[in-house]
Amino acid sequence: MQQKLKYGMVGGGIGSFIGDVHRRAIALDGKAELVAGVFSRDKDNCEKTGQLFGLDPSRVYSSYQEMAEKEANRRDGIDFVVIVTPNNLHYSVAKEFLKNGISVSCDKPLTIEISEALELKDLAKKNNCLFVVTYTYTGHVMAKEARAIVQRGDIGQIRVITAEYPQSWLVDTIEKKGQKQALWRTDPKQSGKSNCVGDIGSHIENMVSYITGLKIKKLIANMDIFGEGRTLDNNAEIILKYNNGASGTYWCSQVAIGYDNALKVRIFGTEGAVEFIQENCNYLKFTKKGQPTCILSRGNGYISETAAKFNRLPGGHPEGFFEAFANIYSAFVDALKIKLSGGIINEEDFDYPNIDAGIDGVKFISKCVESMEKGSVWVDFD
Ligand SMILES: NC(=O)c1ccc[n+]([C@@H]2O[C@H](COP(=O)([O-])OP(=O)(O)OC[C@H]3O[C@@H](n4cnc5c(N)ncnc54)[C@H](O)[C@@H]3O)[C@@H](O)[C@H]2O)c1
Repeated sequence: MQQKLKYGMVGGGIGSFIGDVHRRAIALDGKAELVAGVFSRDKDNCEKTGQLFGLDPSRVYSSYQEMAEKEANRRDGIDFVVIVTPNNLHYSVAKEFLKNGISVSCDKPLTIEISEALELKDLAKKNNCLFVVTYTYTGHVMAKEARAIVQRGDIGQIRVITAEYPQSWLVDTIEKKGQKQALWRTDPKQSGKSNCVGDIGSHIENMVSYITGLKIKKLIANMDIFGEGRTLDNNAEIILKYNNGASGTYWCSQVAIGYDNALKVRIFGTEGAVEFIQENCNYLKFTKKGQPTCILSRGNGYISETAAKFNRLPGGHPEGFFEAFANIYSAFVDALKIKLSGGIINEEDFDYPNIDAGIDGVKFISKCVESMEKGSVWVDFD
């Protein structure tokens, strides 16, 4: 029987959002089990969350520092930690576990500062640890299919990219009424230098980079702050140039009435185009120059092998957010198992977003803020 890996979690207490998604997604494949955690700063919530998952009370800790040290000293200690706290804690929590030789799964954005992200990369290497940054949407089978189509050269040379991620949940200043997720996202001390670009613009950057493999050469950003008393952006438009000469435009917004999580990426090349829509993630629009547009459907025989290997259900039985997350974890846990048993792995072979994707994300956010602060001017990416 395959041995399950053991993981711990920092954040993800009862009432929080993404920690629970991570737990359910990991459980989908049964390759790893939750055995430890510090789920909240609130002691009562932390204990109750531990009880909910039947954890040994001695492994429900009161701080991440204590957890990292004690788990590293146990013979049956955790194989990896999942970090699902507000952004400002990602760096210090990840650092603590890496120092103790424990691999890390961290939600995006990886850190606030680029220097912190680079330091984590060095630490992971030095301590022989793996690192996944959970950019959810690259886990979708049809996002992988878009990538395969581009890699095969089916749309030719990429010329133009347009991508958007509109939401509406911050139309009103709900943080003033104590809405938990809005409270920290609109607070620069917890969110970082940006709210909207950091929270959802970073998903656009990652999806485009994943599907196209292009590197950003330079960008120009406008970031707006709507709502009385707010200090961080909740709407942004970004124009980009890529290393192959292509142009891009990104729009992210949390004040776009009528939209929930409408991430859409359109890529136009010399020979064709692809379009992926997160809210319709079982399908992909693909057009070859001079031919009728096709709607490719997940779960069919024509899907490329690199994407199809992540398929779970026949077409027409929708897969979604949980499955995308599970695909990322499945790949990461497979890689970590080999690593822990002394094997050598090439992270690229496992198709999960590694620390380099996290570093690019932090750089993207910082460059958008830099452009905005200089009066919305072009800034070089490197
Ligand atoms: N990948 C995605 O699609 C996605 C989606 C949503 C959020 N996120 C990211 O996930 C992270 C969490 O976001 P969320 O919406 O779940 O926030 P949330 O406010 O719902 O949850 C944060 C959790 O962290 C806990 N926490 C705070 N400080 C802590 C500490 N010192 N020790 C232990 N626990 C602590 C809180 O008690 C809470 O349980 C953010 O970085 C966010 O950007 C990613």
